[in-house]
Amino acid sequence: MSSVATIKSNIIPPHLEVKGGCPLNGVLKVSGAKNSSLALMAASLLTKEKLLIKNVPQLTDIEVMSEILRNLGAKLTKTNNSIEINSESIHNVELPYQLVHSLRASFFCVGPLLTRLGEAKIPLPGGCNIGARPVDEHINGLKALGAEVEVINDVVKAQVSTKDKRLRGANITLKYPSVGATETILMASCLALGKTTISNPAREPEIQDLAKMLNSMGAKVFGAGTKRITILGVDSLSGTSHFVIPDRIEAGTFLIAAAITRSPLIIGPVIPNHLSAVISKLKECGCLISQHGEHHLKIIPREISGVDITTSPFPGFPTDLQAPFMSLMATAKGSSKIKERVFEKRMQHVLELNKMGACIYQENNTAYIKGVKELVGSNVEGGDLRSSAAIILACLSAKGNSIFTGLEHLDRGYEKLEEKLTNAGSIISRNFDQPTSQRSISNKIISEDNINTQKNAA
Ligand code: UD1
Repeated sequence: MSSVATIKSNIIPPHLEVKGGCPLNGVLKVSGAKNSSLALMAASLLTKEKLLIKNVPQLTDIEVMSEILRNLGAKLTKTNNSIEINSESIHNVELPYQLVHSLRASFFCVGPLLTRLGEAKIPLPGGCNIGARPVDEHINGLKALGAEVEVINDVVKAQVSTKDKRLRGANITLKYPSVGATETILMASCLALGKTTISNPAREPEIQDLAKMLNSMGAKVFGAGTKRITILGVDSLSGTSHFVIPDRIEAGTFLIAAAITRSPLIIGPVIPNHLSAVISKLKECGCLISQHGEHHLKIIPREISGVDITTSPFPGFPTDLQAPFMSLMATAKGSSKIKERVFEKRMQHVLELNKMGACIYQENNTAYIKGVKELVGSNVEGGDLRSSAAIILACLSAKGNSIFTGLEHLDRGYEKLEEKLTNAGSIISRNFDQPTSQRSISNKIISEDNINTQKNAA
């Protein structure tokens, strides 16, 4: 016992050491979309047949979702970036708090469980610490479809009491185009009796990806990506094989990485119209962006000037790229204003960026940024997934070296980030063994020799 305790007390949180100021070059490869994959994995519960999902990123969020599905009785087989899911014998209707609290997407299981087993008990979900993130729209949608739903001691208990155990189609209007609520209602209504309409649904590409897979399973979903989705309920869904769309948020992060390091890069695969708002703002602030082949974008940054952004649901500027874009604006010429309008607590990066020499003043959900000539390497910590990405970008552009902690957030959403960035010329290493009290960049990693080796390899 005592030896285990001793070992645990010596464990140092893993961290990244980042050498600032290295130019990037070459190609940054974009993985499959995390947010699509999570919803698609939950949708596998809707069929008794095998489902093969390809191009799934290897991330901790995907691991947690896999564990949730296993816990419900599904069998998973993983090969590199593919997951085969067999949900034939799911039997459990209750998700354990330990798994749910870290992953908001766990709530996606509620619709399929209700449909397959007539019952679901799911603790209120967690996820990134970026605001209240209620699930009222999910619950109202399920109630409209005929489910009985109550929340007792922070556990959502839902059941279908009709004789045939089927939900009933309904006309549902969302007060806000919530991504998660649209996905919950979509999954719950595919096997409902009759027709469902969702007015004011989320139009994000991940919704379209989910609808595409559901349709290839035999569902009848029309209008995903528009202002009204219609679902004609069917009696059963079959297995299928589906290739996940590229992650537009990872792609956007890489475009901003090019801009903040003033480096030309090729990024892909991407679906360019998934990134329209981001491309348009990057062009406005001084980047040349063009299509490179069928599935890649080429970005050539010039002088970067301050531009304003306001986040909004798709096709607006994505909230998930607000933080990375703020890092860029921190180093732009002139001033800019960034308004966060999707989540109410999503500016945890401001403090860390200011620590690095940025000049950002935050008032409620608006940040006023005065660009500085350069950021300075520092000891910095990510507080949520996207603020962690923003801080890493700032570290890449900074003068000097940085130590980043908060890998548990970063690893939720960016597959092999340091490997990808290193291949493109960055000098980043992951360390597990350096005492937090003595954080400093070790000379061996940041030596000139190393810089030359990296450049030659890139
Ligand atoms: C999804 C994405 C997340 C992204 C977000 C917005 C996944 C796994 N996560 O999160 O990366 O940042 O979309 O693009 O796909 N709301 C309610 N009631 C509800 C549901 C949501 O008021 O029942 C509010 C939320 O508090 C938030 C806003 O709607 O202010 C947007 O939330 P939503 O679109 O549901 O985001 P998520 O699905 O949680």
